[in-house]
Amino acid sequence: MRGKTVLVLGADGYLGWATSLHLSKHGHEVVAVDSLVRREWDRQCGTQSLVPIRSMPQRIKRWQAVSGRSISWRKLDLRDAAAVHRLIEEFQPDALVHFAEQRSAPFSMVDLQHAALTQVNNLVGTLNLLFAMRDHAPKAHLIKLGTMGEYGTPNIDIEEGFINITHNGRQARLPYPMQPGSFYHLSKLHDSHNIQFVCRIWGLRATDLHQGVVYGCQTDEVSQHPGLATRFDYDAIWGTVLNRFCVQAAVGQPLTVYGKGGQTRGFLDIRDTVACIRLALDNPAAEGEYRVFNQFTEQFSVKALAELVRDARSTHGLSTSIAHLPNPRVESEEHYYNAKHQKLLDLGLQPHFLGDTLIESVIQTVEKHAARVDPVELEQPNVDWRKGGSAGWRKPVEKTLTPVSVVSPGAKKSRRKSPEDSARPQARLVQSR
Ligand SMILES: NC(=O)c1ccc[n+]([C@@H]2O[C@H](COP(=O)([O-])OP(=O)(O)OC[C@H]3O[C@@H](n4cnc5c(N)ncnc54)[C@H](O)[C@@H]3O)[C@@H](O)[C@H]2O)c1
Repeated sequence: MRGKTVLVLGADGYLGWATSLHLSKHGHEVVAVDSLVRREWDRQCGTQSLVPIRSMPQRIKRWQAVSGRSISWRKLDLRDAAAVHRLIEEFQPDALVHFAEQRSAPFSMVDLQHAALTQVNNLVGTLNLLFAMRDHAPKAHLIKLGTMGEYGTPNIDIEEGFINITHNGRQARLPYPMQPGSFYHLSKLHDSHNIQFVCRIWGLRATDLHQGVVYGCQTDEVSQHPGLATRFDYDAIWGTVLNRFCVQAAVGQPLTVYGKGGQTRGFLDIRDTVACIRLALDNPAAEGEYRVFNQFTEQFSVKALAELVRDARSTHGLSTSIAHLPNPRVESEEHYYNAKHQKLLDLGLQPHFLGDTLIESVIQTVEKHAARVDPVELEQPNVDWRKGGSAGWRKPVEKTLTPVSVVSPGAKKSRRKSPEDSARPQARLVQSR
């Protein structure tokens, strides 16, 4: 198959970087685009990737050395309409993979400023792309990262984007009813509506990937050199749940489950994320088609995930406890959940299911970078869905800064200061009110 010109938007991020390498490896001409705003949000929140990540120019140079393939790089903010138009006009892409959004639910729930920032960043960025596509690349395929969180937790099976409804004796295939759980998740739903609308009125083509929660940080390409690492978030603002549990297990802290832990969600390995994007790219939507794929491979309750991590540790004779914290979110803690996820399997996805080996490999990654674990980040969640990110929610930082030790046979026992520690800002944006 001929290599396509693909813009990867949000290429400096966790999934965008891994996807850029994967598509490049598979022969596509990748143009990596990012405003680097996530690095700025990290500075504001006092958070950082557990695994150190190099700058985009450094990573791209390393990829060229390792693979012999080049990736073009553009620093660009999708909120800048003129710049987005110039970008699409210049490259005339066959496809655009759009990761470039504010993607933390707690961040979006801090206060009005964060809710507005999230929705303006995400909606305006996507609208700019849609208008630029209409004007300069109307045949291009938009592959947009949405989330399974758009559906909420209805008491019926979740379909892939659409549902057949019989009402008063008449039938129609309609968008599945959505009940998102945060201002971030709402921004994804608003995007979905805008994208579906332009497919209908302008004949654009789009695949909306309603993705589950991603775990892991290694792909075939990323693992080729430490300088190709992608970010790994574990804190209460940016961290995804399994990554956070693995860090807690590695440093011997209890795995913190919010509420009863019956919250069930779809999950997938980062290797499957990059494969799904490639499959969507290789099998584009038709002109005027808006389609939804539910992108996850297994579903777990949060409690079941914690138990999996605990059990993986116990096979090595290491005991791990599970603590239930008051739930900062407003969500059902026990509910029916059965989400379809057939379409990507039909295109040939071969899932990597979660097992002890993966959990162990994530924990080994944590052990390697244990000096960078910030124990404060592993404590109480710091944003409450009802009250926002008030100063009262988090315990004072001074009281919680105890050194962490890695709990594994033969590993280093004390928390060393990393060179970056001294440069890290102490101010935490979520405490600013
Ligand atoms: N990580 C997950 O588990 C997960 C699950 C479901 C959906 N998603 C979606 O996948 C996408 C990528 O997630 P991620 O975990 O890689 O996030 P990330 O925060 O690591 O990466 C997002 C990247 O987008 C960039 N960005 C944000 N706004 C931008 C703008 N206006 N202009 C240019 N660049 C901008 C950021 O700088 C960052 O590098 C997001 O849209 C997210 O909603 C992620």
